[in-house]
Amino acid sequence: MTPLRTPRFLQCHVADSAADRADIEAGLLGEPARAAPKYFYDRLGSHLFEAITELPEYYPTRTEAAIFAAHGAAIAGRIGAGATLIDLGAGNCAKASKLFPLLEPKRYVAVDISVDFLHDALKRVQREHPALDVVGIGQDFSTALALPHDLVDGRAVFFYPGSSIGNFAPNDALALLRRIRAQADGGGLLIGVDLVKDTATLQAAYDDALGVTAAFNLNLLRQLNRLIGSNFRPEDWRHIGLYNEAEARIEMHLEARHGVLVRWPGAQRAFRAGERLHTENSCKYTVERFGALLRDAGFAQPAHWTDGRGWFGVFWAPTD
Ligand code: AVI
Repeated sequence: MTPLRTPRFLQCHVADSAADRADIEAGLLGEPARAAPKYFYDRLGSHLFEAITELPEYYPTRTEAAIFAAHGAAIAGRIGAGATLIDLGAGNCAKASKLFPLLEPKRYVAVDISVDFLHDALKRVQREHPALDVVGIGQDFSTALALPHDLVDGRAVFFYPGSSIGNFAPNDALALLRRIRAQADGGGLLIGVDLVKDTATLQAAYDDALGVTAAFNLNLLRQLNRLIGSNFRPEDWRHIGLYNEAEARIEMHLEARHGVLVRWPGAQRAFRAGERLHTENSCKYTVERFGALLRDAGFAQPAHWTDGRGWFGVFWAPTD
């Protein structure tokens, strides 16, 4: 009898609370004040994001899924079977697992900031795909991407769905794409990207009628309180989600409803009524602009698929 495979786990990223604290304090004292979107994703924030993906206004998740449903076979035909599939920001691993029957990877490497997020999902993946080599890596790929060499023997196919690339400024997105390119020899990158469209559709997606995105944005304040001991009160702040057409990006801010003095051990920041704390950018691309970014990062000519309205793009960027 062949022994049952079990997933392997490797934690490479070490949480650095002093660095987080310094980063948050510098952001709060900046002009304008800012906080990094990575602080959205505590337990409640992750649930709120899942809820956002179910909202009628938030089209990206279901539009991307529809593109994979309609064009999965053609996409897999370009990529080929038998690769190591590396899922960046894998979370519950659901998007990648749906592609297994088409892509037939020999190994599945799920990367997320902490392997703790991956345990249950990868055990399920292994149960459902007993022959697959399953690995979980805890790594902050937004700043460094160094996968153990023995994991990327053969062709590496990176998978980065959901338009999370849009949460990086274009220069940082380019740096991340270059890091991926450096490890993808002979393989490539399969990536989902939200596209430029009319302002009303974009703004509704980030300022929904139920106020779920507002709760997601405001929840960041509770996370800041936990991390630096500040005294933010969500009720003092209003959610703003607006499309900045010149920069082709959605911006999320929290706006002070009245004068607010925020204190934390060692410092404080006074906000005037109407003053904003910038919490997230979500950059939108045209097919041409994103194709050019991929070429700039060193990939060969990409192929892309979109939905009927041209709202979202899935790109396959081979390395050669
Ligand atoms: C995770 N990321 C792709 C989402 C986005 O659309 O930029 C985060 C989000 N922010 C507000 N709603 C969703």
